[in-house]
Amino acid sequence: MKLVTILCQKGGVGKTTFTVNLGKILSNKGFKTLIIDTDPQGNVSTYLNFDKEEKDTINSTDLLEKNYDKKIGYLSENLFIIPSNKSITKHNEEKIVGGPKLIRAKDFLNSHQFDVVIIDTPPTISSLTQEALAASDYYLIPAKPEFLAVEGVSQAMSFAKSTIFTIKSADPIFLGVVLNQVDTRRSSFKDFENELNFLLSDKIFNSKISQLTEIADSPFYSKTVLDFKEDSKARLEFIEFSNEFIERIGL
Ligand SMILES: Nc1ncnc2c1ncn2[C@@H]1O[C@H](COP(=O)(O)OP(=O)(O)OP(=O)(O)O)[C@@H](O)[C@H]1O
Ligand SMILES: [Mg+2]
Repeated sequence: MKLVTILCQKGGVGKTTFTVNLGKILSNKGFKTLIIDTDPQGNVSTYLNFDKEEKDTINSTDLLEKNYDKKIGYLSENLFIIPSNKSITKHNEEKIVGGPKLIRAKDFLNSHQFDVVIIDTPPTISSLTQEALAASDYYLIPAKPEFLAVEGVSQAMSFAKSTIFTIKSADPIFLGVVLNQVDTRRSSFKDFENELNFLLSDKIFNSKISQLTEIADSPFYSKTVLDFKEDSKARLEFIEFSNEFIERIGL
């Protein structure tokens, strides 16, 4: 079982879009996949049309509180969800160092024999993201090429590093940065890419996701890229990214 946290304290960079589409593609390839939402906004559920208030289903608050006696949400073949809702905010303490609560749930998750667990996190510097990081084997940062994006990536990396430094049991590997909502026609894109290359070199994913209206629209219709035509750009780009992801984590 490989656990991967998707993080960036910057809002709207694509954390949930990656969680949902990567989860769908991995499950479609036959990997038993679990998506855990730790964002009080609960967007994963909205994107996938799952009821985040469902009482019989274990949610991320239950997971943190060791209430494991409910069923894990089922989405489609090989794809499962532990949703999040506002109740998780009581575990979201600013400035305090979180960490040990989600780690305790690893035996429970292991007993379900997931191949991969993807954790979506909130757009804040919070102990919920620290919980996710502390339990994870890897972390991935999506970035949107726009003004101040390099700062956003640097801050996310520093936050992860300070979490790893502070929480003794936390030791996730930095998987890299993946560029999202790319519009290569914008002249600032090349400058942004060069700056990131300078900062990260081989830690940037070769595959990128373009700015595409079908991705922007997909949450409204609870669609993932696998619901698009076989030759759709969004679908092809996400499959390429997923293959690189599989290679990088050795799934
Ligand atoms: N490649 C893309 N092309 C077009 N729109 C996109 C793309 N990726 C994401 N979006 C849209 O951008 C918005 C933000 O994406 P998303 O919710 O995945 O970001 P997030 O980082 O999870 O946001 P938050 O920080 O609020 O949780 C959504 O409306 C989404 O549909
Ligand atoms: Mg989100």
